[in-house]
Amino acid sequence: MAEVRIEHVFKRFGAVTAVDDFNLVVKDGEFVSILGPSGCGKTTTLRMIAGFERATEGTISIGEHVVSSSETGTFVPPEDRDIGMVFQSYAVWPHMTVAENVGYPLKIKKVPKEERERRVQAMLDLVHLGEYGKRYPNQLSGGQQQRVSLARALVAEPGLLLLDEPLSNLDAKLRESMRFEILEIQKKTGITVVYVTHDQSEAMAMSDRVVVMSMGVVQQIGAPHEIYTSPANKMVADFIGLINFLDGEVKGDRIFLVGNDSHSWANKNGLEGEVTVAVRPESITMSADGGEFCGVVTHRFYLGDSVDFRVDVNGHIVRVIKKGSDIEAFPDGSTVYLDFDQVMFFKRN
Ligand SMILES: Nc1ncnc2c1ncn2[C@@H]1O[C@H](COP(=O)(O)OP(=O)(O)O)[C@@H](O)[C@H]1O
Ligand SMILES: [Mg+2]
Repeated sequence: MAEVRIEHVFKRFGAVTAVDDFNLVVKDGEFVSILGPSGCGKTTTLRMIAGFERATEGTISIGEHVVSSSETGTFVPPEDRDIGMVFQSYAVWPHMTVAENVGYPLKIKKVPKEERERRVQAMLDLVHLGEYGKRYPNQLSGGQQQRVSLARALVAEPGLLLLDEPLSNLDAKLRESMRFEILEIQKKTGITVVYVTHDQSEAMAMSDRVVVMSMGVVQQIGAPHEIYTSPANKMVADFIGLINFLDGEVKGDRIFLVGNDSHSWANKNGLEGEVTVAVRPESITMSADGGEFCGVVTHRFYLGDSVDFRVDVNGHIVRVIKKGSDIEAFPDGSTVYLDFDQVMFFKRN
């Protein structure tokens, strides 16, 4: 198995800096996601780890080996990097059977036929396709085809598995069950995984750590709960989960909502002037009898297990999600009181 070390890696395409000073150590056996909006540099980063793209600057090591270094000019081609890779498009070969697809990497390595067949069958069993070896890809569903590419990526027992949005082409239900399958495979094999996705719930649910990227720049690296509860900046707070951004201001050593004096917070980080007060809709307690802020319910959306409210507090429209399904407890136009738990403050821009 393998540790991955990425040090001061840059990738420039002409004037575009797709990846800007990327630093990360993925520990042996760790599952790390690279998460961010489309175009932020996730695929480029993964392709540099794989060796399909050459870093403009910096060093990449897999296990004991430096596979890419702008300083020494070292560049190990993908086939010699001991990696398996799965793409968004399943990329299985239509003219080969499932077993031939999965066995191909072993054929290239000249593994004898008998051993090859044994290992292919073991891999197909692992991805729950034990009975499908003789079929052709067009006789399989999308989810099954993606499991074929997963088996093919794993059959040569690489130290590192790279996945680029492997579930994006699957429907929502299948996507969720495939999350568990991938995690189960990772547990069984102990393989190190770097997983690229733009889906924050996927990254949160699957990863030991998440790397949040925006415009080529790493914004934060942390465990899912750290990223959620202590986002490093406004971008991360906005990208992970739901959040209210409310205009606030510093007065003296306290922070207030603009136009509201009913409650204030200590200005612990020494912010100045205009600030953003951030609070997640599920971190707000709403009641009918007293609290930090007084407001009026303007809209309600019934979500089954919860109700999604909009509350006007002195012109600030605050989103509040209340667990439970009693939509009549706080009708439109009713006066309510809000308590904010876990408030975050950012410089306003
Ligand atoms: N081969 C290329 N030539 C020029 N620009 C590229 C190339 N590949 C990617 N880019 C640019 O690099 C940036 C990051 O792209 P990419 O890594 O594919 O993002 P993501 O996977 O996060 O959606 C984008 O601005 C994209 O247009
Ligand atoms: Mg991409």
